[in-house]
Amino acid sequence: MITLTNVRKQFGRDIAVKDVSLHVDRGEIYGIIGASGAGKSTVLRLMNLLETPDSGTVEIDGSVLTSLSTRQLREKRHVIGMIFQQFNLVANKTVYDNVVAPLKLAGRPRATHKERVLECLRFVGLESFKDKYPAQLSGGQKQRVAIARALANEPHVLLCDEPTSSLDPNTTAEVLDVLKSINERLGVTIVIVTHEMDVIKQVCDRVTVMADGSVYETMDLVPSGVPVIDNNPSWFVDQLKKAGETDA
Ligand SMILES: Nc1ncnc2c1ncn2[C@@H]1O[C@H](COP(=O)(O)OP(=O)(O)OP(=O)(O)O)[C@@H](O)[C@H]1O
Ligand SMILES: [Mg+2]
Repeated sequence: MITLTNVRKQFGRDIAVKDVSLHVDRGEIYGIIGASGAGKSTVLRLMNLLETPDSGTVEIDGSVLTSLSTRQLREKRHVIGMIFQQFNLVANKTVYDNVVAPLKLAGRPRATHKERVLECLRFVGLESFKDKYPAQLSGGQKQRVAIARALANEPHVLLCDEPTSSLDPNTTAEVLDVLKSINERLGVTIVIVTHEMDVIKQVCDRVTVMADGSVYETMDLVPSGVPVIDNNPSWFVDQLKKAGETDA
């Protein structure tokens, strides 16, 4: 589904990505983990050519992106969704207007917009929030709107850069549940860049560990599953008591 072959990217004198080759299979949830500055985000941005490689090739969903024209690349990007740590919602647009934006960009027929936007918002459980503005939402809700926006054009791939790194553990579980059902119910291939070990262990089928701009190791995993979300205050009390026991 995604193949990077001998990809390299340099910023000034800094080589962010050195000769990286990796392959993501269709339908898997693939993790990329490593220390800050290891080149994780750059590799993810190379997958949809938000960064152009200095050398090497990028193939995604049957197209060699590095040999497409600007116009062909713009078309292809419609089937590659992306979400970010800081959500990147447009602050002065409602939830509805944020999610409809990619449909307009892709030139989808106007008559189909409303139904598609509501369908995507329903998928992430936020249909009733359509007239709210981003500032009126919690972090987890903002990320779910960003996911709905990324789903609008029916992507085959979803690239996620630190999707849960600004969220508390329960909200993280909520967002991971949504990503998992996008993978299972919609068959979307997902790549998650994160520095959070638990995220990788819970949902990823495979992981690449990056160090210093290179692939250090790639391994198969058996995902342990997303923990059950519990917002009951007694859950917090129980966790604190358990933590006390471990320390004792
Ligand atoms: N646009 C850019 N201009 C200049 N240097 C950059 C740019 N993007 C990344 N770099 C450099 O490339 C290297 C890899 O950065 P990258 O953002 O890919 O790392 P990362 O693994 O995602 O780190 P983090 O965990 O902190 O997000 C770093 O040294 C960074 O400073
Ligand atoms: Mg990063």
